[in-house]
Amino acid sequence: MAFIQLSNVSLRYENGYLAVEGVSLSIAQGEFVGLVGPSGCGKSTLLRVISGLRPPSSGEATVHGQPVRGPIASIGMAFQNPTLMPWRTVLQNILLPLEVSPQHKWAFRRNPQPYLEAARELMASVGLSGFENARVWELSGGMQQRASLCRALIHQPEILLLDEPFSALDAFTREELWQAMQVLYLQRRPTVVLVTHDLREAVYLCDTIHTMSSRPGRIAYTRRVEFPRPRPLELTYQDDFAHIVRELREQIGGMRTQISTLRGVGP
Ligand SMILES: Nc1ncnc2c1ncn2[C@@H]1O[C@H](COP(=O)(O)OP(=O)(O)OP(=O)(O)O)[C@@H](O)[C@H]1O
Ligand SMILES: [Mg+2]
Repeated sequence: MAFIQLSNVSLRYENGYLAVEGVSLSIAQGEFVGLVGPSGCGKSTLLRVISGLRPPSSGEATVHGQPVRGPIASIGMAFQNPTLMPWRTVLQNILLPLEVSPQHKWAFRRNPQPYLEAARELMASVGLSGFENARVWELSGGMQQRASLCRALIHQPEILLLDEPFSALDAFTREELWQAMQVLYLQRRPTVVLVTHDLREAVYLCDTIHTMSSRPGRIAYTRRVEFPRPRPLELTYQDDFAHIVRELREQIGGMRTQISTLRGVGP
């Protein structure tokens, strides 16, 4: 049975713009799903629907078989910009969701020790040990993004929504973060929805990749990725890996050609 289910979801923003139309998606518990597609095709919009931040105009989102009616508690999010709070230390930033989580805040206040240990473990698994008391401005962009992944996971969410979390990083740091992400995923097996423009990133990390077409956003193509985990970075240089990346690129390229032809611009 699907853990996250989108059934015929359409979303029209207040200005009348139809951002996504007729999107149906089934995501299994523990599945790592990628959403890729041209800029403006509605990827972030779909994340907002899944998280309960935006109700669909029609259709329905369910989690655990329950209709999503408002922001879901058991969710962790990370974005392109880490949005850490500069007046807090790294550790205090990572602990932040515990202060507001209805599920954890009382236990955290009563006895923070187990949570501090969990935060230190998370930090160790992404190579941030020793930076607990550092301030945000003392960290590189990659380190801030590692901290933001720890923050997204500290309250043990069942669902992790990632909106281009690695796209502001240089290529080497990005690949390091893919591996850190894989370690975190294998520890807890949350259900992950990753929005990215980087097709190599999607193929390296995901079990299933959905490509979207735009105006309005729809699911155009779905590709399973069966490589066993843990996946070594060398995998990204293999032919069968490159083959899937090319296949996805052609799908998205085909959609872009269609759009520009429709606009009369030509391919
Ligand atoms: N709050 C809003 N009000 C009106 N239109 C919006 C709003 N948010 C997004 N849109 C429009 O809806 C469409 C989908 O936006 P969305 O941010 O979901 O795209 P995206 O696929 O995440 O794009 P990108 O890859 O550039 O991040 C875009 O055309 C955008 O301009
Ligand atoms: Mg977006």
